[in-house]
Amino acid sequence: MEAVEGRLRTAVTSSDRLADSTSRHLVEAGGKRVRPQLVLLAAELGDGAAPEVLDAAVVVELTHLATLYHDDVMDSAPLRRGAPAAQQVWGNNVAILTGDLLFARASRLVAGLGPEAVRIQAETFERLVLGQLHETVGPREGDDPVEHYLQVLSDKTGSLIATSARFGAMFGGCDAAVLDVVVAYGERVGVAFQLADDVLDLRGDDSGKQAGTDLRERVPTLPVLLARDAAASGDPEAAAVVALLDGPLGTDAELEAAVAALRALPSTDAAHARAQHCAQQAVDTLAPLPDGEAKDAMAAFAEAIADRAR
Ligand code: IPE
Ligand code: IPE
Ligand code: MG
Ligand code: MG
Repeated sequence: MEAVEGRLRTAVTSSDRLADSTSRHLVEAGGKRVRPQLVLLAAELGDGAAPEVLDAAVVVELTHLATLYHDDVMDSAPLRRGAPAAQQVWGNNVAILTGDLLFARASRLVAGLGPEAVRIQAETFERLVLGQLHETVGPREGDDPVEHYLQVLSDKTGSLIATSARFGAMFGGCDAAVLDVVVAYGERVGVAFQLADDVLDLRGDDSGKQAGTDLRERVPTLPVLLARDAAASGDPEAAAVVALLDGPLGTDAELEAAVAALRALPSTDAAHARAQHCAQQAVDTLAPLPDGEAKDAMAAFAEAIADRAR
């Protein structure tokens, strides 16, 4: 990871002074580096020291970083990684262009990994964008909101996490059967991760993001959807919370009250349980792999991802 970090820092530098500071902003602010870690981990299923593994790890983190710049514009998020979101510092246009610049850097790097990697990266990015689009427009008439939402999670988050696992195993030299396993694993880990993130949106304490950002932007998350289901089935407590969620959330006091009320509902525990269930499914997917340290670490990784929202 130290080597990945060094390459990542190099990849975001620019001779243009403004681009340099805007691109370095979020890398230097922190972040968990979940995706590059998964690349390195999955590579251990084969030859973890293969030379392409490090660049592949940088490619997925750069792609992720780019999406964060864009996501914070779309979500009007004040904070990211404990720092002001880029658009708060430089405005929407610069933040969007910085995201684009980071995509360009990811593309340059992935080009060195060959056409198969370029194709996978492009397909991943397409799914990610469509997931984000479907989140933005919401379910169509007749769609089940929870099913729609889980598909959004697979696409916007599972896609890149699955590709992280795939790149690791692929450049580690694993065969097609192992690649299939890690892709299925990564998709489920990704859904578990995003479900945990939705629950964390109600906590905000150590996440480096402002609690309730999704609520304020009216992004439907699983805790909200399950609260609506409970309210529709006649649960008065849930109905009171839904009334808060549908009311004004503009002031900090209003937002904090809505966050606290939603967090206290059993449906939020149910959303977290669903994250843990997806993580367990991810662990189960690993069954066909030969036993060993890499497999154990991937199982622990999946569990840790869902547990972080506890
Ligand atoms: C945030 O991702 C966006 C989601 C897909 C939930 P991370 O939680 O991995 O963010 P960083 O990289 O640690 O900041
Ligand atoms: C993450 O979604 C965006 C992408 C995966 C593109 P969210 O909007 O839910 O993530 P956070 O909570 O802001 O990190
Ligand atoms: Mg967001
Ligand atoms: Mg978002």
